[in-house]
Amino acid sequence: MAAAVTLMDMAIVSSGPSPLPGGDRAKPAAPPRPQLLDPAAGEAERSGREDSLRPRRLADYIGQSELKQVLGIAVAAARGRGEALDHVLLYGPPGLGKTTMALVLAEELGVRCRITSAPALERPRDIVGLLVNLQAHEVLFIDEIHRLNRVAEEILYPAMEDCRLDLTVGKGTTARTRSLELPPFTLVGATTRAGSLSSPLRDRFGLLHRLEFYGLDDLRAIVERAARLLLMDLAPDAAQEVARRCRGTPRIANRLLRRVRDVAAVRGHDFIDRQLVAEALRLHRVDSMGLDASDHRLLRLLLDGHGGGPVGLETLAAGLGEDPATLETVVEPFLLQVGFLQRTPRGRLVTPAGRAHLGDPKQVAA
Ligand code: ADE
Repeated sequence: MAAAVTLMDMAIVSSGPSPLPGGDRAKPAAPPRPQLLDPAAGEAERSGREDSLRPRRLADYIGQSELKQVLGIAVAAARGRGEALDHVLLYGPPGLGKTTMALVLAEELGVRCRITSAPALERPRDIVGLLVNLQAHEVLFIDEIHRLNRVAEEILYPAMEDCRLDLTVGKGTTARTRSLELPPFTLVGATTRAGSLSSPLRDRFGLLHRLEFYGLDDLRAIVERAARLLLMDLAPDAAQEVARRCRGTPRIANRLLRRVRDVAAVRGHDFIDRQLVAEALRLHRVDSMGLDASDHRLLRLLLDGHGGGPVGLETLAAGLGEDPATLETVVEPFLLQVGFLQRTPRGRLVTPAGRAHLGDPKQVAA
């Protein structure tokens, strides 16, 4: 049964887009972490500066080739039929371009994209307000969709399935349910935790896709494109160096590039070579593989404090003063990806490659 929403609730709904993902209410209080390499950090940057570097069309979007192919076909088919694009769920680690892809889809469809995040949809009227203000075929982007509350989720079910909004008119014994017809629209949901999505919600998406960490060639192309947009004169091997240190994540690549630009500007370098990149990033304690002080602390705690593991997530999080969910969804994915960390049923382990990267004498000798 879909949840019903009273008309009283609706009356004070704002028609504008809700706060952008990651706003005040969007994130749980987490202990501070160096921001430079945190793909989930930097709201002002994401909503403002990052916008200027976002690709606008599918043809400009570098990497995620399978996703682009699938969505390109779906967009062309929907446009050809004069229909709204089917609902899309994008999942994967932060900073890989889920919001960007929602904006690209809207651009390809020739419609507006409304952006919000689940924690901003606390009251029923928040989601109702967004739905009733949608125009035909528009895109509604909900970030962190795994954090939707049950009432909001149940309002979405008939909206997604039948373009219908169920409202309750009146109160108590005189209360009656009324249905409001909505224009066909596309919900693009994004999550770092696909497993936390309820299955009724997951089942209502027609297109589900995981975004992958980017390969070096794609990252270098992204860095070169951003450098052009920022009017930077960057040597090819300097772009490669930024690509190597950005943890497979475009958002981090662009952030590192801006820090390199600062150092170049202050030192009076018009041309940026690899050495300058290495120096600038050393200053920010980003190592040759893109690991920062937090990663080193995690690997060191495992290695020095627990003989390399296995150690449970909660124990590790407590030892680092981190939130376990942040550790699991933000810090660990890249360490797993580069093969420095392993998740086992008994806990986390440092791999031989991780030991070697830290300069563990046992491993170096082995
Ligand atoms: N900037 C950030 N992500 C990008 C991508 N995937 N393609 C091009 N430019 C980007």
